[in-house]
Amino acid sequence: MTEQATKTEVSVSQLRCIGCGRTALPDRFRCETCRDLLEITYPGWDARGPYGLDAASLKKLWLDRRSSFKPIDQSGVWRFREILPEISEDKVITIREGNTPIYELPHCAQSAGIKYLFAKHQGMNPTGSFKDTGMTTAASFARAAGYKWVACASTGNTSASMAAYASRGGLRSLVLIPDGKISWGKLSQSLDYGAITCQLKSDFDGCVRVLNEVVERMPVYLLNSVNPYRVEGQKTAAFELLEQRGWEPPDHIIVPGGNLANSSAIGKALREMKQLGFISRVPKISVIQAEGANPLVRSVRENGGEKLVPVHAETMATAIRIGNPASWKKALRVIRETDGTVEQVTEGEIALAKAEIGAEGVGCEPASAVTLAGLKKLVKQGFVAPNETVVLVLTGHTLKDADFTLKFHRGDLFNGTSFEAESNSLKPYQRSPLVLEPSVDAVIDLLQSAES
Ligand code: F0G
Repeated sequence: MTEQATKTEVSVSQLRCIGCGRTALPDRFRCETCRDLLEITYPGWDARGPYGLDAASLKKLWLDRRSSFKPIDQSGVWRFREILPEISEDKVITIREGNTPIYELPHCAQSAGIKYLFAKHQGMNPTGSFKDTGMTTAASFARAAGYKWVACASTGNTSASMAAYASRGGLRSLVLIPDGKISWGKLSQSLDYGAITCQLKSDFDGCVRVLNEVVERMPVYLLNSVNPYRVEGQKTAAFELLEQRGWEPPDHIIVPGGNLANSSAIGKALREMKQLGFISRVPKISVIQAEGANPLVRSVRENGGEKLVPVHAETMATAIRIGNPASWKKALRVIRETDGTVEQVTEGEIALAKAEIGAEGVGCEPASAVTLAGLKKLVKQGFVAPNETVVLVLTGHTLKDADFTLKFHRGDLFNGTSFEAESNSLKPYQRSPLVLEPSVDAVIDLLQSAES
C-alpha cells in the first residue's frame, strides 16, 4: 500500500535520499530509486537561521521556554522546535520527554584513566529510554498524517516507547519483538501501555523483515528508526547536551550502537549546530558495539566500511542484539565526519562497566554500559587522551533490565555460558543480598564488619 504523504503546512523541511541525493516524496522511508534511507533536510532555513533566528536568539528562546507551563515548551524535544520539521501544535503528542540530566562520573573516570567524564542520561526519559525523544516526533507526524495504526519491530525500548506515545495520541499500536530475548520490564511496558504485542520466534532482524512486509500491505505507519522523523527528535538530545554545557563541546561523545540511528541523530545534530553557528568545533563521535553484535565494527575492520557485514547477533545486552543495522551508512558518515571510531567490548567488560556506573548511584541498562567499557579501550589505545572531556550517552534506565543486575550481583549472570571464565574478575563488584535472622545484633555485627 502507498503511505499517505505527511502534509505539513510550510515546506521548510524536505526528505532527501542519503545515497543518491534525490529529494523523495515525503511519504516513504526508503528512496524509490536506490532504496537507501531518507533524511530530513531544511532547505527553507533562512540565511540567518531557522525562521530568521540566529544562534544567539535561538539559544535564548529555548532557554526561556524552560520556564513555560505549555506542554509543548515543557517537552525537551519540542522546546527546540525551530530545528524540527514543522507540525501544527494540536497534533503534537508529548509526555514531557527530554530535559534529561548530565551527571559527572568521577569514579568511572578514574577507572577509565581520564579526568573529566560525564553521562547524558537518556534513560531518564518518561518510558526509561532515549527512544522517547524520537517517538514524540514520529508518532506526532503519524497522527498528523491521519494514521490509525503504528507499528515497530523492537528489542524492547522502541516498543515500550511507541506503545506509550500511541496511547497518548489515540493511535493503536502493533509491536513485534523477539521471543524470549527482551527484558521482562520492557515487555511489561508495552503490554501496560496497550500495544498489541507479538513475540515472534525470531530475532530482531527477523522481526524487521516481517514488519517491513506488513507495512507494505496494511495502512500502518512504521515507527522503526528508519523513520526519519525519529532521527529528528533524537537529534535534540545533542542540542540539549550542548546547551547544558554552555555550548562548550566535549572532546568526545560515546554512543552504544545497535540499529545505529542514535549515533546518526547525534551526528546530524552536531553537523547542524556547526552549520548554524552554535558551536565552532565538533566532538569526535565514537560508536561501541557488543562483541557478539558487531556488524559495524566488522564492516570497518574488514572492508573499510564499504559494505555492511551482517552478523548473527548474540549478547546479553539485548537492546543492541542486532546483526543487520538499518542506519549503518548514516552512522559511518558521522564517525568519518567527526574523526570518531568504532570499538567492541566483551560481555564481561559490559557487566563490569554497568556495575561501575551503578556504583556511582546513576545506573543504566547493559546496552548503555558498553560506552564506559569502550571508553576504557579507547583510552588504552591513546584515542582518548587523559585530559580530554568525554560524554557517555546512557540510553536506558537501570530498571529496564533488573534481571541482568540481580544475576550479576548474585554471581550467576554467566553460568552455563562461554563467559564463565570472565566472571571471577567481577567478584569484587558483586553485592548479593544478605539473608539474616531478624536480630538487632546480627545487623549491627554486619555494619561493624562492613566498616572495617
Ligand atoms: N541502547 C538502548 C538502551 C537501546 O534500546 C538501543 C536500541 C540502543 C542503545 C541502540 O540504539 O539502535 O539507535 O543504535 N534499541 C532498539 C529498540 C533497537 O528496538 O529498542 P540504535
